[in-house]
Amino acid sequence: MILVGGEGTRLRPLTSTMPKPVVPLVDRPFIAFMLDWLRQHGVDDVIMSCGFLATAVREALGDDSRLGLRLRFVEEPEPRGTAGALKLAEPMLDERFLMLNGDVLTDIDLTSQMAQHEATGARATLALVPVADPTAYGVVLLEEDGSVREFIEKPSSDRVPGNLISAGAYVLERTILELVPPDRNISIEREIWPLLVGDGLYGFASDSYWLDIGTPARYLQGTFDIIEGNVTTAVRERLGDDWLAIDDGAVLEGRVIPPAVLERGVRIAAGAHVGSLVVLGADVSIGAGSTVERAVVLEGTQVGEGCELRDCIVAARCRVGDRSRITGGAVLGEGVSVGADNVITRGARIFPGVALPDGAIEF
Ligand code: GDD
Ligand code: MG
Repeated sequence: MILVGGEGTRLRPLTSTMPKPVVPLVDRPFIAFMLDWLRQHGVDDVIMSCGFLATAVREALGDDSRLGLRLRFVEEPEPRGTAGALKLAEPMLDERFLMLNGDVLTDIDLTSQMAQHEATGARATLALVPVADPTAYGVVLLEEDGSVREFIEKPSSDRVPGNLISAGAYVLERTILELVPPDRNISIEREIWPLLVGDGLYGFASDSYWLDIGTPARYLQGTFDIIEGNVTTAVRERLGDDWLAIDDGAVLEGRVIPPAVLERGVRIAAGAHVGSLVVLGADVSIGAGSTVERAVVLEGTQVGEGCELRDCIVAARCRVGDRSRITGGAVLGEGVSVGADNVITRGARIFPGVALPDGAIEF
C-alpha cells in the first residue's frame, strides 16, 4: 500500500496543478520510480491510497497494468491521516504487507528488510536511514537487538535522540490494524508507532540512497542524483556511457554538457549552453546564447535569447523572455509567462498562469 494522499503543499507550485505522485521527475511520473523499485522486490499488487486529486493520479497511471503489477485505488472521503488511510484499505490487505510513503526516492533493500521482519517476529519493521538534520522526520532510537526503544515524530532540535530516521517504508502485520480506530483521522507516526514500542516495533537500518522529494530543493537534488547515477533507476540505462539521453528529433545547435536528459522535439539554438545536470522535457526550446545549468525545464516551455536558468525548476508550457534570469531555487508553475529582462531568484515561487511584463521583477 502506497500513501499518496498528502497535498504536497511544500512542493507548490508544481503540485498546484497535479498531485505529488505524478509530478514528472526526469522522464516519468515520480511514482513510477517507486513502482519499479517495488517490482524489483517481488511486489505485484499495489494499493494506492489517494485523497487530493485522486482522479489525476488514476489518469496518469491508468488502472490496468502496463506497469507490470496490479494497481488498485482507495479514495478517502476526507483526509484520514496515515493510519486512517490504512484502516480504510483493511479489506484489501493480506496478513503481511508493505506500506510506503508515496514521496520517497530510494533503492533500500526491501527483500532484506522483509527477511529481518520474519526473523525477529516483528509486528512492524521500519526502514531507517541516517540523515544530517533529523528534525523534519520521525526519529528512531534502537536497542541492541534492533527493536525500537524510542520513536519521536519531528522532534524539536533539543530532543533529537539520534540521526536515524524512518524512511517511510514499513513491513506490517495485519494485526496492527486492531490498534487503529475506524472512521477518523489518525497518524501512524504519532499514534500507532508509540503504542508498538516494546511490543513488536523493529528498525531495519540501511545505508542505501534515500530522499524525500517533498520540497523544490529536494526535487532538484533527486533529479541530479538520478541523472548522476547516485541512485539505481531505469534512467541509468537511457543515459548510456556518455551520460546523455537525447531523444531522436532533438535539434542541437548549441552545446550540451553531461549528464543531461533531452526529450523529443527539444531545440537548442546556436551559442546556447545546456548542462551539466539538466533535464529538458519534450518540445522545450532554448534561445541563442542562453545558459541552462542544474535545472529542470518541463514540456513545451520556451526560453528566449540570452537567458540564464540555473538551480531552478520551470514547469510545463512557460515562456521566459529574452535576457531573463531564473536562479537560486526559483520555481515557475505551469503556464507562467515571464517577460524580458526579469530576475527571479531566492527561492521565489511563481504560481501557475501568472504573467509578468518585461522588466517587472528583480526578486
Ligand atoms: N492517503 C493518505 N491520507 N495519505 C496521506 C495522508 C492522508 O491523510 N497524509 C499524508 N499522506 C501521505 C503523503 O502523501 C506522503 O506520501 C506520506 O503520506 C507521508 O506524508 P508527508 O506529509 O510527506 O509526511 P512527512 O514527510 O512530513 O513525514 C513522514 O515521512 C518521513 C520520511 O519522509 C513520516 O512518516 C516520518 O516519520 C518519516 O520520517
Ligand atoms: Mg514526506
